[in-house]
Amino acid sequence: MFPLERGRRLRVSESIRSLVRETIVTPADFMFPMFIAEGSNVEEAIPSMPGIYRRSIDLTVKEVKELYALGIRAVNIYVKVGEHLKDNTGKEAWNPNGLMQQAIKAIKDACPEMIVMPDVALDPYSIYGHDGIIGKGKILNDPTVEALMQMSVSHAAAGADFVAPSDMMDGRVLRIRQALDTSGYTDVGIMSYSAKYASAFYGPFRDALDSAPVDNAEIPKDKKTYQMDYANRLEAIKEALYDVEEGADIVMVKPGMAYLDIVREVKDAVHVPVAVFQVSGEYAMVKAASERGWLDHDKIMMEQLTCIKRAGASLISTYFAKEAAILLSK
Ligand code: PBG
Repeated sequence: MFPLERGRRLRVSESIRSLVRETIVTPADFMFPMFIAEGSNVEEAIPSMPGIYRRSIDLTVKEVKELYALGIRAVNIYVKVGEHLKDNTGKEAWNPNGLMQQAIKAIKDACPEMIVMPDVALDPYSIYGHDGIIGKGKILNDPTVEALMQMSVSHAAAGADFVAPSDMMDGRVLRIRQALDTSGYTDVGIMSYSAKYASAFYGPFRDALDSAPVDNAEIPKDKKTYQMDYANRLEAIKEALYDVEEGADIVMVKPGMAYLDIVREVKDAVHVPVAVFQVSGEYAMVKAASERGWLDHDKIMMEQLTCIKRAGASLISTYFAKEAAILLSK
């Protein structure tokens, strides 16, 4: 009680503040989301995500080596596939020579210590831009899970360390675990996007992959029948607990910033590492405001990353990974 206790004594100088600081962010906390394009020597800017590019595999590999040298130990991989390869089954997703499978192999060959976590979802391969197979105007759960099993095994065969299902179908973690195990990939882990909300924060990502749900009266116009309602809290815990029971090694909450209450509650409910995805729209907001001089870019970046970790994240998927790692190395 005051005057015996004075909280400000522990804030007097940077030295004492650094001694009692509870949360320290390091590059090893980060996963870097990367967009892969077909071709070679391709580097395409994504207008709504300044500083982020879609790169062909050769340039991606160069970038991965740089990331590793900066202390980053994991990449999340997303591919932009040609329109002619899209259909309603997503079968290109498990083509052993597909863009994703080639990218995984090339990265693991060039930088074996980098943890490669490909995205497992059908949307980049779907003519409809949905994460599932569509029948009678609905997203079909169980046939989609069958597709995700094949996709996951093909990622493991290409050398993935983890697969990261981001689709929100029921039961997919269990079925993917079983498929990996029966194919001999018992060491390949699963980072499940467990509490993934139907969020408008994914807009720039869908620009990057051209993967937004198409405008067609026959099919759902949004992802609300599988991604979660952002008004809900208990549902997130339920989903995370299901995924742990089904064999997830890491559970994820997504988006980040506006969902840190969920991060803390999931963290308190499970005994596996919790990942947080600071998504494209969150990145775009910081870039846009700092381009206008309205926010201090680097300070906002570090404050957000630190607060995400403080909320309970053991690892953070963030488009800021490289910039933050460079800043931390200074
Ligand atoms: C697709 C997927 C999405 C993101 C990651 N995987 C988009 C979506 O669900 O529509 C979003 C990532 C971001 O916004 O940065 N399954």
